[in-house]
Amino acid sequence: MKITVNGTEHDLGEIDPTTPLLWVLRDELGLTGTRFGCGKGLCGACTVHLGGAPTRSCLLPVQAVTAEITTIEGLSKNGDHPVQESWRELCVPQCGYCQSGQMMTAAALLADGSKPDDEKIDAAMAGNICRCGTYPRIRQAIHRAAGGAK
Ligand code: FES
Ligand code: FES
Repeated sequence: MKITVNGTEHDLGEIDPTTPLLWVLRDELGLTGTRFGCGKGLCGACTVHLGGAPTRSCLLPVQAVTAEITTIEGLSKNGDHPVQESWRELCVPQCGYCQSGQMMTAAALLADGSKPDDEKIDAAMAGNICRCGTYPRIRQAIHRAAGGAK
């Protein structure tokens, strides 16, 4: 079985096709920026892009990967995606555990070049849980990344 992650095709050999993508990313490909939180689709820590759409990699069997995967490691070449820059500028993370998932969801939200209001941001980010309560900074950073600094 082959999948493409961050622009590189990987041959997974005879891997069990029901293996969740999250395990493939972390254990087979060494891409540990994507986190295991709940393993049940409830927290968003494992969010990656599947063909550009935010997707819970803990629930997605690798056999169901039908489009290119992008992880936090592939969001930009030099860590300079607008979401990454605004996250740094506003010191969004606290413990940091949830933040790669938060950034992947935020990047998908902004991919169409729109400037979402608070309501749209909250709706898009609702499935990403942060135990440290960084939600106000996340919202502010999304506004900033969208070019509408608040
Ligand atoms: S680890 Fe996938 S949603 Fe929590
Ligand atoms: S920064 Fe700690 S869980 Fe979100």
